[in-house]
Amino acid sequence: MNYDDLAAIYDQQYDSYRSDLHFYAGLAGGVGGRVLELGAGTGRVTAFLTRRGVPVVGLEPSREMRARAQARSEREGLSLNLVAGDMQSFALGESFGLIIAPFNALMHLYAPSEQLQALENIRAHLAPGGTFAFDLYVPRFGALGTLRHEGETFHAPDGSRTDLFLLQRHDPPRQLITTEYFVDTALPTGELRRTFHTLTQRYYTRFEVEWLLRCAGFGAPRVTGSFQGGPLTEGSEVMIFQAQASAGRGGSQGL
Ligand SMILES: C[S@@+](CC[C@H](N)C(=O)[O-])C[C@H]1O[C@@H](n2cnc3c(N)ncnc32)[C@H](O)[C@@H]1O
Repeated sequence: MNYDDLAAIYDQQYDSYRSDLHFYAGLAGGVGGRVLELGAGTGRVTAFLTRRGVPVVGLEPSREMRARAQARSEREGLSLNLVAGDMQSFALGESFGLIIAPFNALMHLYAPSEQLQALENIRAHLAPGGTFAFDLYVPRFGALGTLRHEGETFHAPDGSRTDLFLLQRHDPPRQLITTEYFVDTALPTGELRRTFHTLTQRYYTRFEVEWLLRCAGFGAPRVTGSFQGGPLTEGSEVMIFQAQASAGRGGSQGL
């Protein structure tokens, strides 16, 4: 999944999403040394951690997303450390006390072989006793096959107005949810411009993730259903995992 095409609407939609920031900052605060963020995107979390004095490396495969993170870095006077790479294959020659994959980044690993390869690579980059923390949304979808507007309207300084409509298709056998975005911008002249973008995510169930972690050499994770540490319940919108390498399988192998 290449995010290049989605970079502009990603920032419009999610730049103000803050629910996860203090959770990841809290974990990072307890770790000495550099933190690795996988799927750093446009630097939403990377910048938050950097502003708090956390030395963080943001790994991101999409050139457009990295360019936006770099622009943020310059705009906000930060020095974000961004590297190009894929979580399945990165090799940084360094181990980390904390590796994070915020905001559904693992949902872009579609086949079990890709998921295992990424998790094994992540484990190999964990320092002894280090933690891998990530969050995924709980699979629950709105009306499928219906063009929806979920209140996302953005007003630009030039007087234009952008409305985001989405259409979702569900592929249960492959655990895929595909979202087609119809992005309509009404210019001050009254002209309407539409762009079209597609995003496919591989959703997970809680115990599937636990088994994947186990297969990749992690111990039983801490699983919560809120960023404040509450339990995973029927009403939870997110699943948050904190895992460490299982005993005898500490990090740094293969670096
Ligand atoms: C939903 S965005 C999250 C961005 C950022 N972490 C945030 O919280 O705002 C998912 C990001 O994961 C990246 N991604 C997709 N596949 C990846 C892979 N195989 N390895 C690393 N990152 C990946 C995408 O390019 C995208 O920037």
